[in-house]
Amino acid sequence: MYVTSPFLLALLVLLLLPPSTQPRKASQGEDLIIDRRHHRQNRVGGDGSHKVLECSEYSNTGSLFMDCQGRNLSSIPTALSLSQVPDHLLLARNRIRVLRNRAFANYEGLRSLDLQQNWISVLEDEAFVGLTRLTSLLLQHNRLSTLSEESLIPMPSLRYLRLHGNPWSCRCTLDSLVRTLQVPSNRNLGNHARCEEPLRLKGRKLKKVDPEQLCLEPQEDNWGNDTVPLQPSAIRSKPDATTICHTYLFPTPQLDCRGRGLTEVPSDIQGEIVQMDLSQNSLRRLKARDFVGASSLRSLNLSHNNLEDMDTASLSGLLHLRELDLSHNNLRFFHYGVLEDLYFLSVLNLEGNPWICDYSIHYLVYWLRLHPGVTHSGLLCHSPDELKGNSVEDYVHSYNRDCSQTEQTDPELWNTAMELQGWLEEQEMEPANLRGPQKYRVTRLN
Ligand SMILES: *[C@@H]1O[C@H](CO)[C@@H](O)[C@H](O)[C@H]1NC(C)=O
Ligand SMILES: *[C@@H]1O[C@H](CO)[C@@H](O)[C@H](O)[C@H]1NC(C)=O
Ligand SMILES: *[C@@H]1O[C@H](CO)[C@@H](O)[C@H](O)[C@H]1NC(C)=O
Repeated sequence: MYVTSPFLLALLVLLLLPPSTQPRKASQGEDLIIDRRHHRQNRVGGDGSHKVLECSEYSNTGSLFMDCQGRNLSSIPTALSLSQVPDHLLLARNRIRVLRNRAFANYEGLRSLDLQQNWISVLEDEAFVGLTRLTSLLLQHNRLSTLSEESLIPMPSLRYLRLHGNPWSCRCTLDSLVRTLQVPSNRNLGNHARCEEPLRLKGRKLKKVDPEQLCLEPQEDNWGNDTVPLQPSAIRSKPDATTICHTYLFPTPQLDCRGRGLTEVPSDIQGEIVQMDLSQNSLRRLKARDFVGASSLRSLNLSHNNLEDMDTASLSGLLHLRELDLSHNNLRFFHYGVLEDLYFLSVLNLEGNPWICDYSIHYLVYWLRLHPGVTHSGLLCHSPDELKGNSVEDYVHSYNRDCSQTEQTDPELWNTAMELQGWLEEQEMEPANLRGPQKYRVTRLN
């Protein structure tokens, strides 16, 4: 089920509802139930100003979410007069700097806690006391340099811990944490987190660093400017989605890689990701298998890049994709076959590309014709000049009307997908160097 639209609907309903003093009883059975709305005043920011804080609550597939993301909070909101403690507390993108002891004492029963993208540099040992049911703790992209294993002890159910994007100081105080992360059964704790200092360990993964190296004497820290090879960002060929992008798990698993200066699609996109935003980067081409493993992806935003070329196999495996935004790129045509796996596509944004109205565009038009459920936009000829601004489909239509009868060179004249398939297979068997995208001269197969 696609979660986003009910979620948006829920927000809309929230906005339309008058604030109620009495929580209404939630009805059963629906996917999405709105049962409460809370407004609270909170003093935020360092400038002494007062701003209204509004955490929203919603329930989704039986779990209660309290969503306080991006509200400039500087402290943990005290649990409201809730009849029911939320299952999931979302505090991403705030300005929390310190987690004091027992900061979550009112949230016992919490199953996930998202604190990513705050300014947390201090985390007291008993900050997480009471969170015995917590399974997922997100602390990535904060300012933590050290953390003791003791702070994890109150959370025996923890299975999933994100620590990357923090400037870990790989010294003696980190010893107990590193040893804990390296226990084989803790395989989802602290992946991707890396040492920031000392220099000789910079870039090492906490999962991999030798714990014996942490407690060397300070004067030994200087050895190895040149003897220890610098680790590894220079060595890694491809950016890694988990560290470069922001991951949100609730309510919809999404990967936000917008505006990260990426020149290629990051690797290791996790299988459960449903929405991925790669807009406003500098991607020039999509390569084969760029999205391999992203099998749950339903929405992919590639708009505002410099895409010129998409490999025939670049979108393969995206069997569930519903929405593909390719707007504002440099695309002139699609290679034959590039869209073949997108069985469930329903929205295709194509505007702002210099579509070329010659034979190379016919595949796209034919594919759209075979998939009438796809709403597309922005398919206008950019060249040649005499067709500029015309609809690409009108061009293909008139091309077919004028086309000679002796040699049938156009997919329009094939009646079934089977015939196209046969034709595509034929193309596959040709040597690659004969398969220039713009030079097709196809004769009927049978
Ligand atoms: C948070 O603070 C920044 C700068 O102080 C401001 O621009 C922004 O609108 C605030 N956001 C909210 C949700 O209050
Ligand atoms: C070690 O590296 C730092 C900066 O990278 C440099 O300033 C320092 O001179 C180097 N020391 C040695 C012994 O090479
Ligand atoms: C894709 O990203 C662009 C720019 O970041 C945004 O304007 C657009 O609405 C997004 N498209 C979709 C389908 O969300």
